[in-house]
Amino acid sequence: PIVDRLFNASQAEVWLAQALGIDRTIIVAGDADLQSRVYDLAGEELNSALNLLLPLADCIVTVMGGKTIAKVAKKLNRSLSENRSLIFVPGRGALGGRVNTESNAVVQEMARATGGSYESLFLPEHVSKDAYRSLVRDPEISGVLQDISQSDVVIHGIGLASEMARRRGYDSVALARLRENKAVTECFGCFFDEEGHVVERIRQVGLQFENLTNVPHILAIALGTRKAKAIKAYMRNAPHQTWLITDEAAANQILNGS
Ligand code: F6P
Repeated sequence: PIVDRLFNASQAEVWLAQALGIDRTIIVAGDADLQSRVYDLAGEELNSALNLLLPLADCIVTVMGGKTIAKVAKKLNRSLSENRSLIFVPGRGALGGRVNTESNAVVQEMARATGGSYESLFLPEHVSKDAYRSLVRDPEISGVLQDISQSDVVIHGIGLASEMARRRGYDSVALARLRENKAVTECFGCFFDEEGHVVERIRQVGLQFENLTNVPHILAIALGTRKAKAIKAYMRNAPHQTWLITDEAAANQILNGS
């Protein structure tokens, strides 16, 4: 079974984990840029990894948004809830427009697929300093933030800087600034250059990159050749307890030193 396979990493999975400086990688066959079934394979591996890593108890699963996570969410199943109770918590507030890929929607899908429950964080993800200060004191929001701070696992995608900036409505001046700062990737509202340095960040309510170090397990999912550079850049400073689920196309691109 697939869970047994997780104990036995392939040579490429070991090499990739070493190259990226993280505990574990899981490589699924194919190239997600060309074959949509690769998302299904990644979703099955995510289910197995969660089954292996999560304690048989009450578990808090914090989930970020994005297209990749939205697609793999469909492959979670009820085996995860057999001897544990799962609460899925959105890692951030709403991102206007793309309703079905924001984390509020993804946690609902994951709760439905596994028979778990979910919480909601209904607020703009990008807020002013003053609004941020009062929002985090709101009892409902602070309750969700408290749960986020006690996450057993965080599940997140790894975005391309330019694509994420456009999704967030950056204008041409902001896009030019990001290019100048050589931003390659975006995760948790932080833009990183290829050395893994944060070059810019979006003030947002929810999980902060710096707080990841306290989370026992982190599952990053990024698929397809086009994500190779972003994966490499983000992993430069990612917490070591991160497990990466990726595909052969991205893995080969990284291992071949591109
Ligand atoms: O918006 C959440 C997020 O996890 C970002 O931090 C990340 O950059 C992005 O999603 C990845 O999105 P996609 O899988 O659509 O490339």
